[in-house]
Amino acid sequence: MIHPVIMAGGTGSRLWPLSRQLNPKQFLKLTDDRLSMLQLTVARLEGIDATDPLLICNEEHRFLAAEQMRQSGYNDARIILEPCGRNTAPAIALAALQLARAADDSAEDPLMLVLAADHLIKNVAAFQQGIASAVPLAREGKLVTFGIVPGHAETGYGYIQRGKQLAGDSFVVSRFVEKPDLETAEKYLASGDFLWNSGMFLFGARRYLAELEKHRPDILAICQAALEEASEDLHFTRVNESIFAECPEDSIDYAVMEKTDSAAVVSLDAGWSDIGSWSALWDVSEKDPSGNSFAGDVMAHETASTLVRADSRLVATVGVKDLVIIETKDALLVAHKDRVQDVKKVVERIKGDG
Ligand code: GDD
Ligand code: MG
Repeated sequence: MIHPVIMAGGTGSRLWPLSRQLNPKQFLKLTDDRLSMLQLTVARLEGIDATDPLLICNEEHRFLAAEQMRQSGYNDARIILEPCGRNTAPAIALAALQLARAADDSAEDPLMLVLAADHLIKNVAAFQQGIASAVPLAREGKLVTFGIVPGHAETGYGYIQRGKQLAGDSFVVSRFVEKPDLETAEKYLASGDFLWNSGMFLFGARRYLAELEKHRPDILAICQAALEEASEDLHFTRVNESIFAECPEDSIDYAVMEKTDSAAVVSLDAGWSDIGSWSALWDVSEKDPSGNSFAGDVMAHETASTLVRADSRLVATVGVKDLVIIETKDALLVAHKDRVQDVKKVVERIKGDG
């Protein structure tokens, strides 16, 4: 039995103005008309021998998260609420501690399948096959990640160097490098020896906690204390605010995956993408013969390779290419498709800290 743990605490600021502080991207219908990114993540688990998913997100989004889980058929899914974001190493630690506590002193270490709530996976059967390949490795105590054959020298991802082959599609990780610079990423891409880290993991809860204890005992100690002082309220676990506020920020990638000797990778060819920016959404969307992807009321004349989302008004374009135009009731974004990583800078300015 697998315990899916869905991380849904990101802010999605590069997808402004659709993604907002109170309604960030994992709760939006970005790639599907009916289901949000979170709901797609949940739906992908259908058919796997798994418990109800455990969700971990910011307190601010509790009603949104609970409502979307309810719509997906999970009326009382457990939701861990973080009073503030401290990145993925602490978030996963809270989930692992809760699962380990529930398993009590049973002999088997509960296997947690850690998923991000904002990925697109086109081939669900291949994804589920990848999980099946990872289970025996995780049972042996490996921290398994899912690796993607890289398509370009992306600097926003982690890179995994394949070591010894363990089975058909799985390998020892000989090196894990989180977010290398461009020069290094280009070298890794050219070598053909590296996979992208998809940001999904399978491991035993106790195994993760043991690795965290070894590499970041400070984070583990605070998470333990914050969970001990948590309050239970319906199906929410509210992590203690004053204790958790003291937790250092770190991602699982830097805190554990770069440092552990027990990492393994299952290579996954499942049409995976991280919808991190508007150009990533354009990449995966269906396009007309001129390379345009339009949603809503759009009128285009001599327009190419452009993404338009019109939420509340007619948007017309004339003689433009390579643009991203996102129209919402109270804000309009017009950006060059090659510059969409910088949308978060606008958000920082709006918030007053940029
Ligand atoms: N609950 C919770 N709390 N969730 C969080 C937090 C937090 O503090 N911070 C991030 N998350 C969630 C996000 O919502 C997302 O679903 C997931 O954790 C990953 O966080 P990102 O912030 O999107 O990470 P990233 O994209 O920079 O990097 C990770 O993913 C890449 C692939 O998409 C790394 O694992 C990279 O190595 C990987 O290549
Ligand atoms: Mg991401």
